[in-house]
Amino acid sequence: MKLLEGQVALVTGASGGIGRGIALRFAEEGAAVAVQCHTDVEAARGVAARIEELGRRAVVLQGDLTDEDACRRVVGEAVEWGGGLTALVNNAGVQPTRELPGMTAAEWRAVVDTNVSSVFACTQAAAEAMRERGGGGSVTHIASIEAHHPAPLHAHYSAAKAAVVMHARSAALEYGPYGIRVNTVSPGLIDREGLAEAWPEGVRRWRTTAPLGRLGQPEDVGDACVFLASRLASWVSGHDLVVDGGVSARPAW
Ligand SMILES: NC(=O)c1ccc[n+]([C@@H]2O[C@H](COP(=O)([O-])OP(=O)(O)OC[C@H]3O[C@@H](n4cnc5c(N)ncnc54)[C@H](OP(=O)(O)O)[C@@H]3O)[C@@H](O)[C@H]2O)c1
Repeated sequence: MKLLEGQVALVTGASGGIGRGIALRFAEEGAAVAVQCHTDVEAARGVAARIEELGRRAVVLQGDLTDEDACRRVVGEAVEWGGGLTALVNNAGVQPTRELPGMTAAEWRAVVDTNVSSVFACTQAAAEAMRERGGGGSVTHIASIEAHHPAPLHAHYSAAKAAVVMHARSAALEYGPYGIRVNTVSPGLIDREGLAEAWPEGVRRWRTTAPLGRLGQPEDVGDACVFLASRLASWVSGHDLVVDGGVSARPAW
């Protein structure tokens, strides 16, 4: 039996690189998947089509998750489409760079709204639906190794991802009694088309620093999310699973 057979999952930001990898791994393991996107409907349709080729159900749901009402609507649509929801992956996020001295409050808020407030609202709505049906479920947030080790020009992002990790631990406490597990996955540098050309120095540095000698692939993050949503993790909650090829094990001094 596949690991996620019979599950209905909502993956936010599934039109993007990592979200696509998570959504496809969920489908390969037997889940029906609601593919959420914001602006890139075409990419989301492509992911949904691939899921259907794998023999699983898929739907595209669009919304700006910086808007709390949109979070509730998207989760509600997923629940209605799937006849319930057993897994939510809060993956949508933005990663702009900006130096702290020049950062405006609006720039700070944009990162916090997208990367943290959406996680709060989507989790609340999904947990409500899971509780109503009494079947429990799992919620997995995509954080980052930057939640633990800030990178230059990413103060807003690092703070947001640290908040996501702590939200998961708090949510694990409060939703645990309803059979809802909440965890985070903290990826390191994940490959994408054009990354090596756009940032050759960073990619080279990563390859030499990572004990496993390579960049991550979206499927590496997908595998971690599959595990956390599966029965194999039925006693795992409030955990942060670092998926970084061993980089965080290396001393920084
Ligand atoms: N790439 C990495 O190396 C890395 C490492 C660690 C953690 N992460 C985290 O992994 C997640 C995915 O990253 P990625 O690299 O796959 O990024 P990506 O390719 O840029 O995808 C981002 C996704 O988030 C969606 N999104 C952005 N703003 C949104 C909003 N306001 N409302 C709803 N959806 C919104 C985008 O939707 P549309 O495209 O449809 O607008 C897209 O699907 C993020 O949380 C990121 O912080 C990434």
